[in-house]
Amino acid sequence: VAGAVAQPTPANPPPQKLAGRPSELSTGEPRTSYEDVTTYNNFYEFGTDKDDPARHAHRLRTRPWTVSVEGAVARPGVYDIEKLLALAPIEERVYRMRCVEGWSMVIPWLGYSFAELIRRVEPLGSAKYVEFETLADADQMPGLRSPVLRWPYVEGLRLDEAMHPLTLLCVGLYGEVLPRQNGAPVRIVVPWKYGFKSGKSLVAIRFVEKEPLTAWHLAAPREYGFYSNVNPDVPHPRWSQATERRIGDGGFLARKRKTLMFNGYADQVASLYAGMDLRRHF
Ligand code: MTE
Repeated sequence: VAGAVAQPTPANPPPQKLAGRPSELSTGEPRTSYEDVTTYNNFYEFGTDKDDPARHAHRLRTRPWTVSVEGAVARPGVYDIEKLLALAPIEERVYRMRCVEGWSMVIPWLGYSFAELIRRVEPLGSAKYVEFETLADADQMPGLRSPVLRWPYVEGLRLDEAMHPLTLLCVGLYGEVLPRQNGAPVRIVVPWKYGFKSGKSLVAIRFVEKEPLTAWHLAAPREYGFYSNVNPDVPHPRWSQATERRIGDGGFLARKRKTLMFNGYADQVASLYAGMDLRRHF
């Protein structure tokens, strides 16, 4: 899909540099190429083919952009993207990412722990979950014509998952601001869960009491649970989750890798689920 990289145009200016200090939370595994990270994407608002986001996301207007923080917090408000960018020091977090479809990548994200924002807005005792709503604008997003999901795309985390240091408020990758196809100008990244938990192009963050109804769960409740932790022992109803294809490993013929519990982040996150039956809460 080399030809699919969006060329700079007035609507699609050349990438802006963004620096991040290295983080101890990064993996040392080889990074997936910039080319693959930015041309092999899921972003159904721009179409369901892997190259649709790179082909169509130039239509996304990333300025002005605000994110509304709502619900059970002492300090709700509307955050301008520039304010979000300046809220905390930007770090480079190289994370393994695993899609529910069975492929994985290693991506050098830029951002800071989502907990930095959460602490500033002061969740109330009634806030048990965080719901993320992402942009749904048919003028900019041709994929909204298809009813493949209920729009807007909604995802969510339990408050303690959202507060975990690995959970990233992400504003860039590979030393530049987020490319549109990767969820510009701001997205969530949760590396121990299947990729669909990592909502792109966020417009609202809601602190709520009840478990959010998420887009993929609504589309196929038997296939996509709320937790969606990467778990090789819980097959998707239509395929195994025991192995994965690392993008860049050499095409469809390459040997598959064993998928690791919590995508390899078990040491950091397993305690969040102590005592839970992860087959029932898949
Ligand atoms: N966010 C929105 N708004 N719409 C989407 O279709 N797809 C998800 C997730 N976030 C999606 C989304 C899925 S299935 C995956 S695997 C990741 O984004 C892919 O992110 P990447 O393209 O940055 O690797």
